[in-house]
Amino acid sequence: MKRNLTAAALSVAALLAVAKPGTDPQMDKFIDDLMGRMTLKERIGQLNLGGVGSPKVVGSAKGLDVAIKEGLVSSIGGFDPKAAEDAQRFAEDNMRVFIPMITGLDVVHGYYTTFPIPLGSSSSWNLPLLEESARVAAREASAFGINWTFAPMVDISRDPRWGRVAEGAGEDPYLGSLVAQAMVRGYQGDDLQDPQSIMACTKHLVLYGASEAGRDYNTVSMDDVTAYNYYLPTYKAAFDAGAGSGMTSFNVVNGIPSTGNRKVMTDLIRDQWGFDGFIVSDANAIAEMIEHGVGDPQTVAEMALKAGTDMDMSASLYVACLEKSVAEGRVSEKEINTACRRVLEAKYKLGLFKDPWLYYTNKDKRQETILSPENLDVARRLARESIVLLKNSDKTLPLKPAKKIAVVGPLGQERGELLGTWSYGMSADTMSTIVEALQREVGPGTEVIFSQGSNWTEAPAIYKQGGKHPSDSLLMQAVADVADADVIIATVGEPAIWSGEAHNLTNPTLAEAQMNLLKAMKATGKPVVVVLMSGRPLIIPEIDEEFNTILQAWHGGTMAPEALADILTGKEAPSAKLTSTWPRNVGQIPLYYNALRTGRPYSGFWATTKYIDSTNDPLYPFGYGLSYNDYKYENLRADKLEAKGDNDKIRVTVDVTNLGTMPGKEIVQLYINDPVAKISRPMIELKDFAKVELAPGETKQVSFDVTADKLKYYDSELNYGWDEGDFIIFVGPDSKRIEKLNVKWTK
Ligand code: BGC
Repeated sequence: MKRNLTAAALSVAALLAVAKPGTDPQMDKFIDDLMGRMTLKERIGQLNLGGVGSPKVVGSAKGLDVAIKEGLVSSIGGFDPKAAEDAQRFAEDNMRVFIPMITGLDVVHGYYTTFPIPLGSSSSWNLPLLEESARVAAREASAFGINWTFAPMVDISRDPRWGRVAEGAGEDPYLGSLVAQAMVRGYQGDDLQDPQSIMACTKHLVLYGASEAGRDYNTVSMDDVTAYNYYLPTYKAAFDAGAGSGMTSFNVVNGIPSTGNRKVMTDLIRDQWGFDGFIVSDANAIAEMIEHGVGDPQTVAEMALKAGTDMDMSASLYVACLEKSVAEGRVSEKEINTACRRVLEAKYKLGLFKDPWLYYTNKDKRQETILSPENLDVARRLARESIVLLKNSDKTLPLKPAKKIAVVGPLGQERGELLGTWSYGMSADTMSTIVEALQREVGPGTEVIFSQGSNWTEAPAIYKQGGKHPSDSLLMQAVADVADADVIIATVGEPAIWSGEAHNLTNPTLAEAQMNLLKAMKATGKPVVVVLMSGRPLIIPEIDEEFNTILQAWHGGTMAPEALADILTGKEAPSAKLTSTWPRNVGQIPLYYNALRTGRPYSGFWATTKYIDSTNDPLYPFGYGLSYNDYKYENLRADKLEAKGDNDKIRVTVDVTNLGTMPGKEIVQLYINDPVAKISRPMIELKDFAKVELAPGETKQVSFDVTADKLKYYDSELNYGWDEGDFIIFVGPDSKRIEKLNVKWTK
C-alpha cells in the first residue's frame, strides 16, 4: 500500500511490526542463534556507532574500552584506522559475546587517491568511469580496514548557496539516479564479501538538498508530487542498486525531523521501496531532535528507533536510554530486535562473522594499493572529463605555442585546496601544483611562472587565508610579473572549506579581491584564461561578460593539476557538461531546468514569471558545456511517430558530426515533454543521454529507445504511470539547444 509523506500517523499495530524475515535461511539461523545468546543490553549495544577516541559513552561516562567490553559499541568511525583496528582487537579479546565491528568513514570521492568533488565528477556524465572511481576508493579504503562508506550522497539540490551541493550530482533526478547506482556498484562490487568491497550508505534520507534558503540543516517543506518526481528517485535508485545501508538527514521534513520520521524511514523506504538493510542516523542527529523540539533524550531515542533508524551515530542515546524504555514498557524488545537484526545482517553480509579480520587481508599491500599509477590514471581521466569549458569565443584554448605562460591567482601553487570538501588530504604531499604540471606538459621551451595576485578574499566576514601581503600589493606584483608573458592563466575561485557541510554563502560569486585580479589581468591586453575552481556553481555574469575564455575545473582532486594541464594544452578536448543550472544572480535561485510552466509563459523554455530587473534565463543552462570541437546535430528522426501500449518503443536517431580537428567526446542528451497530463509537467525532463567518441570529421548515428517507462510520473494520488496523447521528444547538446519531434502514444 502506498502512503504519502504527509499521511496521518500510523497505528500502534503497525509500529510493532517486525522487519521482513531475511531471504537467506542460513543467515537467519545464524543471527537467531547469536541474538539468543545476547543480553538486551548487548542487543542495544549493536545499535550504537561509537567514535574512535571518544572519551565516553553518553549516559555511562565510561571510557570507550569499557563500553566495548560491555558490548555497547557496534561500529566505529574509521578516521584513525590504527585506532579502529585496536578497538576491534580489544573487542575480540574482551567482549562477552564477540561481535566484529563495522568500520565506517566518509569515503566520498576517494580515499588516498582523491577524485573531483562529486558535483564535478558528475559533470563527466561518464558512468563507467564514475564506477571505476568508486572501485578505486573501495580498494584503497578497505586496505585500511574500512568496510563501510558514508556515500554516495545523492541529495538533489537546486541551490548553489548550499555548501553541500558539492557532494551531490546536481539537480537532475534521472542523471542523479544513474550516478548513484554507478557509485553503489563501484563501492560494493559484485560481492560484498570481497575484502576490496565496502558497503555503501545512501544519504541523506530525505530531501536534505532542499533546505530552505540554502542554509544547511534547515527545514524542508515539500509537497508529495515534487518529492516523488524530483527529490526521491535518487535515494530509491541507490537502494535498487543494492546499497546496504542508508543515513538519515539532519533536517525536518514536513514538520518531523527525518531521523524520527517513520513515514520516511519505514513507510516509504522499507514498505514502499522494499529496502531491507539498516539505517544509521546522521552524526548526533538523534540528540539534535531535542533541539528540534520533539522531546527529551529518552523520547527522541524512542522516536528514532520506532521510526526505523536502526543505528545511532555518535549521540549514544540508544545505549543511554533504551534499556530503561524497555523496562518502562515504552519500547518493546521486538523493536530492539528488529533493529539489532538489521545491523547483524549487515555484518553477516560483509563476511565479518566468517572472518572478523577480512578487511585487514590487504593490510600488507597498503603501500602498493594507495596512489598506484592505475588509481592516479583513473583520477586524471575523471578530472579531465569533469572540466567544463564555459566559454572559448576567441579560441584562446587550447594554448598556442608560447615563450612564457603566467599562472596567477590563489590556486596556482595550491595542493590540498584542490582536493575539495571531504578529503583527508592524504595525497596532498605527493601532488603537483598547477604551475608544475603545466610546466611539465609544455616542456622546457616554454617558461611557466607564478604570481599569486590576490588572497582568497579581503572580506573579513568570510574566511581569510594566506594574507601575509594584502591583495592590493599582490596584485601590483602580478601586473609586473606578467609583463612579458604571452598568455595568462588565472586560477581563481574557492578554497576547499568554502563549500561542504555548514558552509553556505548568500552570494556564491568570485570574491572581490580575485575579481580585481582578473580585471587587472584583462587590462594588460593579454589573452586571459579564467580557470574557476570551486565547490559549487558560481554566479559570474561579469566574468562571462568581460572574458572570452572560461573553464570550470571544480576541486578536481589529486590529479587536478595534470588534468587541467591536459585540457589547457589540448592533450584532450573538454567533454564535460554542467549537471546544475548556473544562475545569473542570487535572486533567481532556485533556478532549474525541469521547471513547470506558468499560465503566462513569456517565451522559451526558461520563462516562467518575468522579473523586472533580470531575464529569467540562466547564465549557463543544465547540460551545457563546450569543446574545442564544434559538433553538428542533424537529421533528428524516429522509426515511427506513433506507439501503443506499455511495451512499445520509438527509436530516435540523430546524426552527430565532429566538425573539429581533435578527437572528442560529446554528451548527446534526450529530453521529453508531456504537454497535456493529469498534472502540470515540466517543460522538459532529461530521459536519456550518450557520451559518444568522435574522431575529427567523423559522423555517428546516435540512437535512443524511448519506452513508455520514460513517460511515467507520479500524479497527485502518487500513482506512477503515463497518460496517452502527444509527447515531444527533444535531442541536443544541452537543455537549451534542442531539436524536437512530436510523437503520439496511445494505451
Ligand atoms: C554529515 C554526514 C557524514 C557524517 C559522518 C555528518 O556531519 O552530515 O554526511 O557522513 O557527519 O562523518
